[in-house]
Amino acid sequence: MLKKVCIGVLVSGSGSNLQSIIDHIESGTLDAEIKIVISNNPDAFALDRCKKHQICAMVVDHRQFDSRESYDRQMIAILESSGVELVVMAGFMRILSSEFFRAYPRRIMNIHPALLPAFPGTHVQKKAVEYGVKFAGCTVHFADEGVDTGPIIIQSVVPVYEDDTTDTLAARILKEEHRIYPQAIQYYAEGRIKIQGCKVFIHNTHRLAEKALHNPPLTRF
Ligand code: GAR
Repeated sequence: MLKKVCIGVLVSGSGSNLQSIIDHIESGTLDAEIKIVISNNPDAFALDRCKKHQICAMVVDHRQFDSRESYDRQMIAILESSGVELVVMAGFMRILSSEFFRAYPRRIMNIHPALLPAFPGTHVQKKAVEYGVKFAGCTVHFADEGVDTGPIIIQSVVPVYEDDTTDTLAARILKEEHRIYPQAIQYYAEGRIKIQGCKVFIHNTHRLAEKALHNPPLTRF
């Protein structure tokens, strides 16, 4: 049997990605164990999810620290004492310090609701609708010190329709987030991820059929 990867999940809000990870662990499709969930927000709904599933959770409120470094030091101490090997940011709306990256080099995953490197930052579904892109999506990547940068593990693409609002597009993307985040963690658990420079190689994946997508669909060509 595969050894479970010990993860620590960082959250700030609703925690629907956390829920998807929990559900996949409980159904046996994800070989991971959540050692600890840390929220910077005491009111995060993610904390209710932890209670319901008897997962150990802690609030580390950034407002009670005088610097980013001291905040991160506290988080590192908790993660290390909980035996976390992989840090999973799931809607964690804070930038991490260099010290954090030194503590968990290439062992911090993040999910972002856009096709990186397009649309880093915040309110990206709104920006995608306003820009008029025809495809959007989500990305799981290893975080580095930039904002939403670092080696990309997996992406999912969704169409953007002419009548989309920020909410309809965000919902379509979120559904895919819930599929690709557990998959990325499972790749890690299976030891199939190799990082070379800025690229991630997944051992033993089959090659996607070479088929382009068009939106709107081609009618004649
Ligand atoms: C998700 O859409 C996630 O991709 C995004 O926050 C949301 C959290 O939802 N993260 C970022 O924008 C990070 N740059 P959740 O709390 O329901 O998982």
